[in-house]
Amino acid sequence: MHRFEGRVAFVTGAAHGIGRATALRLRSEGASVVLADVDEENLAWVANDVAHAEGGEPAGGGDDARGAQVFPVRCDVTDRRSVSSAVASAVDRFGALDVLVNTAGGANGPEFDDFDDDGWLRVANLNLQGVVRCIDTALPHLLASSVGGSVVSISSVNGLAAVGSMAYSAAKAGLENLTRNLAVRYGRRTLRHAGSEHRSVRFNTVAPGTVRTRVWTTDEQGLDKLENLRRMYPLDRVGEPEDIAAAVAFLASDDASWITGVTLPVDGGLLTGPLGAISPED
Ligand SMILES: NC(=O)c1ccc[n+]([C@@H]2O[C@H](COP(=O)([O-])OP(=O)(O)OC[C@H]3O[C@@H](n4cnc5c(N)ncnc54)[C@H](O)[C@@H]3O)[C@@H](O)[C@H]2O)c1
Repeated sequence: MHRFEGRVAFVTGAAHGIGRATALRLRSEGASVVLADVDEENLAWVANDVAHAEGGEPAGGGDDARGAQVFPVRCDVTDRRSVSSAVASAVDRFGALDVLVNTAGGANGPEFDDFDDDGWLRVANLNLQGVVRCIDTALPHLLASSVGGSVVSISSVNGLAAVGSMAYSAAKAGLENLTRNLAVRYGRRTLRHAGSEHRSVRFNTVAPGTVRTRVWTTDEQGLDKLENLRRMYPLDRVGEPEDIAAAVAFLASDDASWITGVTLPVDGGLLTGPLGAISPED
């Protein structure tokens, strides 16, 4: 499949896990990909992974990198100037922006019992406001996309059900409603924005269940937790980053051209119902 040939995708959180897998997937389908993250060292590794997957030389700097279809750029989604500068250099590099994937995020935050204003604001600033910043900055370019813009944001099953991590869950739930509102606001093809006509932009969200990334795999304790979590999943496994990347690629592509404003759970069946309520013997 080459659904993204000639298109430019900007992926935040691309240095690790789900963002990295998404960047590799979009590139494998022909996109020119902007790898945006705070972890510059790992971004370089991801750029090399792409080159390796394509059987080419590792991406170098300077003029060597001009021909490459991946562009690593430092981007801190909690800092508007950093986001503006990253989007500007991406558009300067590739001349357009058609797809935005908001992956940067993280779960560490305070629980309600240890209420802490700063902690809640920090989690919201990364997981919700960070996405608002990226969409707001990229929107003029997405509206100008000759193929119609598409935004896919990564929320979580935490945004859809009560499974702990309250500050994180509240921020992710906010992201899902933001998606619905933006889908309605920017769906019309002939919308006038800043004095001119533009194509529509679609907005969708993917809500992953547990996915095997460094969040879980850095120590034995995390691996034990993963094994325990596996038992909760009707499909009897946790997710892999590639499971999420496949769903993102679908929603970002023209295959989903009549889908906007949805949150797609990609969760091995976790949210379908309590496991054990229907046993195989029934
Ligand atoms: N792994 C899971 O089980 C799981 C489940 C549901 C949702 N998610 C969501 O998926 C997304 C990716 O998670 P992951 O598991 O791949 O985590 P990860 O830690 O492997 O990747 C997150 C990436 O975001 C980057 N990042 C962090 N803060 C940033 C900032 N301020 N600006 C730019 N980049 C920043 C990190 O450097 C990293 O590359 C997150 O939004 C997370 O909430 C993960």
